[in-house]
Amino acid sequence: MPQATYHFPRGFLWGTATAAHQVEGNNTNNQWWKWEQDGHTNGTSGLACDWWGGRWREDFDRAVEGRQNAHRLSVEWSRIQPTPDTWDEDALERYRSMLRGLHERGITPMVTLHHFTDPLWLYERDGWETEDVVPAFEKFVRKTVDALKEYCTLWCTINEPNIYATYGYIVGDFPARHRGWKAAMTVMVNMFRGHAAAYRAIHEIQKEARVGYALHYRPMVAHNKWSPLDNLTRSIQYSGVNLAFPSAISTGIMKWPLGNVRVPEAKGTQDFLGLNYYSVDTVKFDITNYKEVFGRRYYPENSDLSDTKFIANIPEGIFDSIKWAVRTYPDLPIIITENGVEDVNDHLRPRYLAQHVHQMWRAVNFNWPVKGYFHWSLVDNFEWERGWTQRFGLWALDEKTQKRTKRPSADLYAEMCKENGLSSEMVQKYCPEVFDKLFPV
Ligand code: FCB
Repeated sequence: MPQATYHFPRGFLWGTATAAHQVEGNNTNNQWWKWEQDGHTNGTSGLACDWWGGRWREDFDRAVEGRQNAHRLSVEWSRIQPTPDTWDEDALERYRSMLRGLHERGITPMVTLHHFTDPLWLYERDGWETEDVVPAFEKFVRKTVDALKEYCTLWCTINEPNIYATYGYIVGDFPARHRGWKAAMTVMVNMFRGHAAAYRAIHEIQKEARVGYALHYRPMVAHNKWSPLDNLTRSIQYSGVNLAFPSAISTGIMKWPLGNVRVPEAKGTQDFLGLNYYSVDTVKFDITNYKEVFGRRYYPENSDLSDTKFIANIPEGIFDSIKWAVRTYPDLPIIITENGVEDVNDHLRPRYLAQHVHQMWRAVNFNWPVKGYFHWSLVDNFEWERGWTQRFGLWALDEKTQKRTKRPSADLYAEMCKENGLSSEMVQKYCPEVFDKLFPV
């Protein structure tokens, strides 16, 4: 039986990712809380993982036990700025303690400044649909970065602007004041302006800052590669979902199916690309699905699917995503800011994790500048409109009792983090079913 270890470069970041609303609990002052109370989600976030009540300490201890050297978390705008004219210094102090807590545990933080939630006061003024949000976001970013700069140099301005805009303004699963393609486009453009303003503000405040955003990159293939209609809808969906932000950062022009918008101030505003990769979609032409420009996305029948069929295990997709990133931005550092799978019994997760890390290793071996990997997530947490029906944690959470239980994947990941690589022994121990794929004779 072959024996080998796929090693990563020294200094590689190995961590997990979380988001404020999903773990803190009692985030009552943002649009998601309201959306939950109005009955649009599968359960409500409630106490979540009770990080605001202090349980971040025990979870950060779990990250240490899991040999992680980095953690990506987000701050909650509605806590820091509860009304347009007030700052909550206690909230900022609490985030300072959390970041200090990471440092004390030898964990490098990455802070996301916007992860899907908006303060209610902003939302009631139509949030990202109006240009006023740009100076408002910049003001919040300045205040927050100034308060946290002692503990963080790695910043992610906005998480998945493409998902925020499409799930809210087109699909309708996320809260949005008005729906439609036009609103979605305006939101994307304003998020892009907000990102650019934040990028400049952070660099003004902190010279050594490295600033990027997290792109949900979704590879897509046509259902029938010989069908012009499948190819057309695939390419419209692909560019709509994936390319708006990246092409705008390269050219200063945001391209979308509805037309182009010039945002020259945003050109070149990234020091790294954050990639969130989960799966690959197959796209088929469907005349009835006008909302998604006549394309229907699905996973092929024989896919290796997660519990609720939300994710298909397609590890080559992470390699293709990194390859796309390198071709789009040669030499720009890449960080995998999210990757993971919902799997309550941990049947699929060990192989999902090992296979994705293996594909990331292939990319690193082309000398492509992948600098770190953040697994989604440390502990089960509140999954937006899907609520508690999906379990992404290395640790299971019983949200009623707050009891955490370690899943085997937590041990597998700990071994990878410790080794700075993936070995044949690990695969043999945790997911022997893919041994031949990862270590062929
Ligand atoms: C991503 C989100 C993250 C989490 C994972 C499963 O799209 O950024 O908050 O919900 O999906």
